[in-house]
Amino acid sequence: MRFQTLTILTFLSTSVTTALPTELKDFLLVTTDQAEPSINSSNLRAVSATSLFDPYKQPALLLRLIGPGYNSLPTFNLNSGTLQTISTGPTGTDEYLYNSTKVQSCQELQFLASEQPAGNLGLDQGYLLAVDGEREGWTICLGKLDQDVLYWKGTDTSCNKTFIHAVTKAPY
Ligand SMILES: *[C@@H]1O[C@H](CO)[C@@H](O)[C@H](O)[C@H]1NC(C)=O
Ligand SMILES: *[C@@H]1O[C@H](CO)[C@@H](O)[C@H](O)[C@H]1NC(C)=O
Ligand SMILES: *[C@@H]1O[C@H](CO)[C@@H](O)[C@H](O)[C@H]1NC(C)=O
Repeated sequence: MRFQTLTILTFLSTSVTTALPTELKDFLLVTTDQAEPSINSSNLRAVSATSLFDPYKQPALLLRLIGPGYNSLPTFNLNSGTLQTISTGPTGTDEYLYNSTKVQSCQELQFLASEQPAGNLGLDQGYLLAVDGEREGWTICLGKLDQDVLYWKGTDTSCNKTFIHAVTKAPY
């Protein structure tokens, strides 16, 4: 009897898992002018890779656009509406699991090496980074040290609209 129950439970959980869309793990974040996905991220319109940076040895890491010639790109996972990524801290030696902070209008997408409350990020249709379900609102703005930095609803005149896609392979 006990065996039977277990078998049924196993069967149920297996079918539930397979019914859900597979969640992307260890993805890269890229910016592009298009909302539609591409099998090959290199073919996304005006695609750019992104990388973490720390303008002034401040606590929060930001995300900036980066061209070809980088050493490596950060990978991300989504956990309770929060993006997580591993990076070295301000001293540049120890690695921490950075968590994104709750995304707010006119602010950069920020990451802190501390525990964060449940966030407001999600992957719309499994690949489009969205805030409270909104996929439009990401902007690339001229930030500190002349870097192109990702903001949510940046209003500065330098800001250009963009989409952020979660992809498994770097565009370049
Ligand atoms: C992706 O597209 C680029 C540019 O069109 C091409 O050079 C590359 O070989 C493609 N990669 C794959 C895995 O098809
Ligand atoms: C980031 O959040 C996770 C899950 O809440 C937590 O386990 C981890 O310790 C946090 N990172 C740091 C550096 O505190
Ligand atoms: C926004 O787009 C314009 C026109 O393509 C470009 O000159 C400018 O550098 C872009 N701004 C940022 C922050 O990338």
